[in-house]
Amino acid sequence: MERRDLREQNRVSWNVVVGAHNSHRGDLSRFFSEGGSTLFQEELDLLGELEGRSLVHLQCNSGGDSISLARLGATVTGVDASDEAVSLALALAEETGTKTTFERADVYDWLEEASREGRHFDVAFASYGVICWLPNLRSWAWGIAGILNPGGRFVLVDFHPAADIFDKDWNHVSDYPSGGEPLLLDRGVGDYVAASGGGLTPAGFVEGVRDFENPEGCYLFRWGLGEVVTALAEAGLRITVLQEYPYSNGERKFAAMRGLLDRRMVPPEHIPTIPLMYGIRAEKS
Ligand SMILES: C[S@@+](CC[C@H](N)C(=O)[O-])C[C@H]1O[C@@H](n2cnc3c(N)ncnc32)[C@H](O)[C@@H]1O
Repeated sequence: MERRDLREQNRVSWNVVVGAHNSHRGDLSRFFSEGGSTLFQEELDLLGELEGRSLVHLQCNSGGDSISLARLGATVTGVDASDEAVSLALALAEETGTKTTFERADVYDWLEEASREGRHFDVAFASYGVICWLPNLRSWAWGIAGILNPGGRFVLVDFHPAADIFDKDWNHVSDYPSGGEPLLLDRGVGDYVAASGGGLTPAGFVEGVRDFENPEGCYLFRWGLGEVVTALAEAGLRITVLQEYPYSNGERKFAAMRGLLDRRMVPPEHIPTIPLMYGIRAEKS
């Protein structure tokens, strides 16, 4: 699979930042034991009924959403490249007594191996900051189609690439993303959990690590929304929902965003509406 060196560097950059993110997350075990869920209504609406379904959560990070999905009755396998994220996920599953499997793997390697081994799932799910880590949408989409059962579905919720054309003051300074060109971020994966000031910490925000700096750079791959939809359609998946939302859940991408109810972030009042997030539901015949 192409760009293995860049994906490997991304794993290293993620490993460095995961502890800082986790330092802000409060007592997730207690949150879950009191019936909490880290999921937003948008993905719940797209996912539909999960009771008794097998579900693979791709790029699951430290497993909060995977555990929430398991608590809705799905048999969940979480997959992520980061060693640190997967260790935290395993620890959280144990502390909360949730039956969930976590596998540390690069998503492309995992999809290839799962397909070779004949593993199949009713639902595949990925959310909030996943497409930008994928150097090739075609093999990703074919890989997902290959591990779904007939009648199975893939649900994706991610930040809208339209937001990537702006600088921090909402000036239109960049081209709309396309083609998956790698973009080197010297400063690596940042502490966006701290920057979101509570938006990404449903169990309560803790000050935790301050002024985090990541010495390990990372590579983002810039794709447009049309390219994501086309890759899924070409892999034989039927797009049944494509929804755009004028807010983003949890993440304060621009400092000057307003937080609404339910941890939704919107631009300041003088900025006209743009889509900040999208959701896709795609089904396998
Ligand atoms: C922004 S997080 C996704 C958020 C996640 N859905 C959650 O519930 O917190 C992106 C994740 O993608 C993972 N990742 C990046 N490149 C990957 C790859 N090539 N294979 C597997 N996981 C990857 C990172 O380790 C990180 O945990």
